[in-house]
Amino acid sequence: MSDADTQKRAAGEAAAALVEDGMIVGLGTGSTAAWFVRALGARRLNITCVATSQATAELAASLGMKIGELGETRPIDLTVDGADEIGPGLSLIKGGGAALLREKLVWEASRRCVVIADAAKSVPILGKFPLPIEVVAFGHKTTSLRICDALSECDIGAAPRLRMKDGVPVRTDSGNLIYDAACGRIVEPAALAFALKSVTGVVEHGLFLDLADQALIGTREGVKTLEP
Ligand code: 5RP
Repeated sequence: MSDADTQKRAAGEAAAALVEDGMIVGLGTGSTAAWFVRALGARRLNITCVATSQATAELAASLGMKIGELGETRPIDLTVDGADEIGPGLSLIKGGGAALLREKLVWEASRRCVVIADAAKSVPILGKFPLPIEVVAFGHKTTSLRICDALSECDIGAAPRLRMKDGVPVRTDSGNLIYDAACGRIVEPAALAFALKSVTGVVEHGLFLDLADQALIGTREGVKTLEP
């Protein structure tokens, strides 16, 4: 197993130990979140889970975990999810796995959110990882031009690129498209988040600000805990 995978696994297992019997638990998406789900499934607790993607729902169901729908359970006690970048104050870029919309819906409905990652995800400033932006398919090329304008307003010169896989545009679980914007350095994430949300056709962006309560980072020296 690679160093990164060992760290992801350690972070996922540490997060699984935070879950208590009877909880409603939000399950993130991605390879790190999958380690969490597997470790949690192995504990055989009496919990109900809300999944942030079809892939995670299928993994959890295959482990015999009980799945509930967002809004049809009592409030979520704890959500655990991965991230593409973890910046100052636990500001995050998410959406590398195209699940950002459902992830943000679940995070915002949770009492506590814990982000888990390998050490390479910790950065001094957000923006090296291209920022995912989910848009409705109708008129998406026009929307991408307006995203360009919003980025320019924030002094970011990136041209958003439509995410493709196997020659076709990637569709999210909600049927939308993803543009990735290679911002470089996001100096003012809150201003960028506001500018992007103001564009009609943008459904959500991958900036998760003031949402994470704690980070568990796998490192060569063990799992480190960070607070905002
Ligand atoms: C999915 C996400 C993931 O949490 C993020 O991409 C990290 O993935 P991984 O744990 O595989 O590195 O935001 O939309």
